[in-house]
Amino acid sequence: MAILTRRNLLKASAVAGAYGAGMMLAPRLTALAAAEPMPLEARIIEASLDGRGKTRNVMTYTGAAAGNDPMPPVLRTRRGENFAARFVNHLDEPTTVHWHGLRIENAMDGVPFTTQPYVYPGDSFDYAFTPPDAGTFWYHPHCNTLTQIGRGLAGMLIVEDPADPVFDAEIALNLRDWRLGGDSQFIEQFKARDAAKSGTFGTVRTANWQPSPTYDAPSGGLVRVRILVADVTRIYNLKLTGAEALIIAIDGQPVPVTMPLDMAVVSPGQRIDLVIRMPDSEGAIVALEDIRPSTPKTVASLRSVGTSLKRELGDTKPLAANPQPEPDLSSAIPVPLVLSATAEEAARESICGTLGYSFWAINKVAYPGDGPDPLAPLAEMKLGRTYLLNLENVTPHAHPIHLHGMNFHVISSSTRKVLPLVSDTYLILPDEKVQLAVVADNPGDWVFHCHIIEHQKTGMTGYMRVA
Ligand code: C2O
Ligand code: CU
Repeated sequence: MAILTRRNLLKASAVAGAYGAGMMLAPRLTALAAAEPMPLEARIIEASLDGRGKTRNVMTYTGAAAGNDPMPPVLRTRRGENFAARFVNHLDEPTTVHWHGLRIENAMDGVPFTTQPYVYPGDSFDYAFTPPDAGTFWYHPHCNTLTQIGRGLAGMLIVEDPADPVFDAEIALNLRDWRLGGDSQFIEQFKARDAAKSGTFGTVRTANWQPSPTYDAPSGGLVRVRILVADVTRIYNLKLTGAEALIIAIDGQPVPVTMPLDMAVVSPGQRIDLVIRMPDSEGAIVALEDIRPSTPKTVASLRSVGTSLKRELGDTKPLAANPQPEPDLSSAIPVPLVLSATAEEAARESICGTLGYSFWAINKVAYPGDGPDPLAPLAEMKLGRTYLLNLENVTPHAHPIHLHGMNFHVISSSTRKVLPLVSDTYLILPDEKVQLAVVADNPGDWVFHCHIIEHQKTGMTGYMRVA
């Protein structure tokens, strides 16, 4: 279901403002005008995730394109076009929807208390925005986040650019784990002693909610694979066997120059877009593997079908760059941001849930959770100015740190060579110092947090104020 063939892709592109889950893009969707909100609902279902039994209390999003697939739909829209969703909460707890990586209006950012009220059970909220960037993005809740993402609420959002090169096929992969016991039911979502380290890992690993699925792809064709790490904890080291591939985008943004995929580190919240050149011989298998030493695993596979299209990987056309504001480094204002462990007791009861612990801090402050008296911002930024986030990780763990509402340019690192990427998430390694430049061009309060959700929810959160 995640496969979009070239023919379907062309058909889909003919539908103004079309969205849907790959091939499931049904003709009836053409009836919806671009500005008419699409339905998007959070609800509790039963689903089979581990290839054995049915898991109860799975949380998913359903919408116009739902069909039989229990996974949240892959939403599609276009750069510069209006996107609108009427979100209805059918859970039995409050939630919100955050559009990760999209530089949109603050009021649409989906962070309770900071940008919008909680969406209580039975209530709805209208989201509407115009994505300024094409690429691979995602949507997820920002309330009781460990449980809600942990139980399923994480979907892909693809923003197309009409000028994007056309590939022979396209596949979207939503990678994540589940914390299930032997009876296929959810077990405790985290262990405190792991939350104080690299996080609590899942017991069942899936791509598109299936253990190691295999997808057909045209022999000898060029296949665009959009990969999202939606897991709350796991950092992937992705490698391909059986074919060559190029990295064409990271975190939704086209890379400055395409590069061969050797091994790619992709952490929670991040995306990577590959172009894979399928083998010529029918039936050949290409395996996407996670080669983290402790946990090797075939994540998903592609199987060559049909007579070879005989494409060349070198024929891959680059993606059009998304226009970004240029940072002015000569006048950039430094913002020190130290990520550390903490012993401070700051966790407070809140509507969006607390894990009851404070293990982490930014500039020595552990974020206590959503509430009526928010902490002071980490920085007050003047609209239009450039800021240099001087991040320092003084913990022995890696943190995929994520900024809402604006992208940053990766400038330099104390420990490694960095690519000049534009991104919304940076994986900062132990003892690393990194400089990220941000043009403060989007007014509002923007959350800044680690995307290992146990870290986010036990203190490693703050926000920037742009005015
Ligand atoms: Cu993926 Cu605060 O976000
Ligand atoms: Cu972290």
